[in-house]
Amino acid sequence: MRTQVGIVGAGPAGMMLAHLLHRAGIDSVVVELRSRHYVQERVRAGVLEQGTRDLMVETGVGARLQRDGITHHGLELRFGGQVHRIDLSDLTGGKSITIYPQGELVKDLTDARIATGAPIYFAAEDVGTHELDSDAPTIRFLVDGQEHQVRCDFIAGCDGFHGITRSSIPASALTIFERTYPFAWLGILAETPPSSEELIYCHHERGFALHSMRTPKLTRLYLQCDPDDDIGNWPDDRIWSELNSRFATDDGWKLNCGPIVQKGITPMRSFVAEPMRFERLLLAGDCAHIVPPTGAKGLNLAIADVRLMASALAEFYKSGSHDLLDLYSQTSLRRVWKVQRFSWWMTSMLHRFPHENSFDQRRQIAELDYVTSSRAAAQSLAENYVGLPFD
Ligand code: FAD
Ligand code: DHB
Repeated sequence: MRTQVGIVGAGPAGMMLAHLLHRAGIDSVVVELRSRHYVQERVRAGVLEQGTRDLMVETGVGARLQRDGITHHGLELRFGGQVHRIDLSDLTGGKSITIYPQGELVKDLTDARIATGAPIYFAAEDVGTHELDSDAPTIRFLVDGQEHQVRCDFIAGCDGFHGITRSSIPASALTIFERTYPFAWLGILAETPPSSEELIYCHHERGFALHSMRTPKLTRLYLQCDPDDDIGNWPDDRIWSELNSRFATDDGWKLNCGPIVQKGITPMRSFVAEPMRFERLLLAGDCAHIVPPTGAKGLNLAIADVRLMASALAEFYKSGSHDLLDLYSQTSLRRVWKVQRFSWWMTSMLHRFPHENSFDQRRQIAELDYVTSSRAAAQSLAENYVGLPFD
C-alpha cells in the first residue's frame, strides 16, 4: 500500500492529524495498536483549551462537543481552607475552557475518519517503522496475522509516550530533557454530581487535590499520593476520607460522594525529546513530550502539534516548499517549552514535596496568595490555562 502520510497511533494527535490532512486533500493511513473500544474508553483528559474547542468546531467535528461539552469561565484555587476564584474569561478577553472527555473527542474524530472511507487499522501487532532515511519510509504491521506494508512520503509518530516511533530514531539524533516528581495522582471517576460548577485546584498540607467532572452526573477527582503507592492500598472509604480532609473549607463546603466506577494511579513526569523530526518522521503529542497533568495541557499540546504539522504538510503538497516542514520542530518546541514551564509551575505551586522545609511552605502559600490577589499574576495563569495564542 502507498500513502502520503502514514500515521502511527489513533489517539488525539493521530486522529486530529488524519482529519486535518483529509480536509487538505492529503491521503493518510492510520495504524493503531489497540482496539477502537480501548482507545475511546480509556479515562484520560477532560479539559479543552479554547483553541482546541474552536478547531473541533471550525473543522466540522464539533457538533457533539457543542451539545455536551460544559463551558467553564473560571476555576477555583483553594488553600488554607479558603476559596479563591480565577475569572478566566474576564482575564483573557472572553476565553473559556470546555469540559469534554478525551475519549469523546477521539470518538468524534474516529467517526469522521470512518465516514471518509480512508484506511484505519485497529489492533495492529508488531508495528514497526523502516527506511526512515529514504524517500519512502515504511510502516509494517500485522492485523489478524496478515502482514501489511505502507510506503509513505512521511510518517507521523503519534503513538504516545510508550510508542515505537520515538525509539526508532537513533539515540544520537535526539536530546532528552526530563524531570520526574516525587509524587503521583490517584484519580477516580465517581457516579455523583460534581460538588462545584467549576474545577477546584486545592493546596493542602496533606497534599494536592483536584475536583473536576465529566458530565452533570459524573465527578472526576484526583489526589496527590506516593509515586510507589499501590491502588490496592486505597479502598473507597480511605479515598473519600482523604478527599474530604483536603477539600475542607472554613465555611463547611460539602463534597458529594457516590460509587467509584474507576480508579488508578498516574505517575508525573516532564519530558521533551528534541528535535521533533528525524528525516521523514515527524513526532507529535505524548511521544515527543509529557507534561505533569496539573495544567491540563497534554491533550491540548498534542492537538497544537498536529495543527502545525498539518499546515506544514499542506504547504509541502501545495507548493513543494519544505520551509514549514523544516521549521516544524523549532516552531512546535517554542510552545512545548512554554507549556512545560506552566505545567511545572502549577505542579510546584500546588503539591507537597517530601523534602520541603518551612521556608518552601511559606513561599508556596505566598505564591498562591499573589496569584489570587494580583490581577497581573492571575492574568498570567489565565492566559496559559485557556491556551496560549497560536503564532
Ligand atoms: P495518546 O493519547 O497516548 O495516543 C497514542 C496512541 O498510540 C494510543 O492510542 C496508543 O494505543 C497508540 N500506540 C502506542 N504504541 C503504538 C504502536 N506501537 N503502534 C501503533 N499505535 C500505538 N491532557 C489535557 O490536555 N488535559 C487534561 O485534563 C489531562 N488530564 C489527564 C489525566 C490523566 C489521568 C492522564 C493520564 C493524562 C491526562 N492528560 C491531560 C494528558 C493527555 O491524556 C495526553 O497528553 C494525550 O492523550 C496525548 O495524546 P497523544 O495522541 O499524543 O497520545
Ligand atoms: C482534569 C485533569 C487535569 O490534569 C486537570 O488539570 C484538570 C482536569 C480532568 O481529568 O478532568
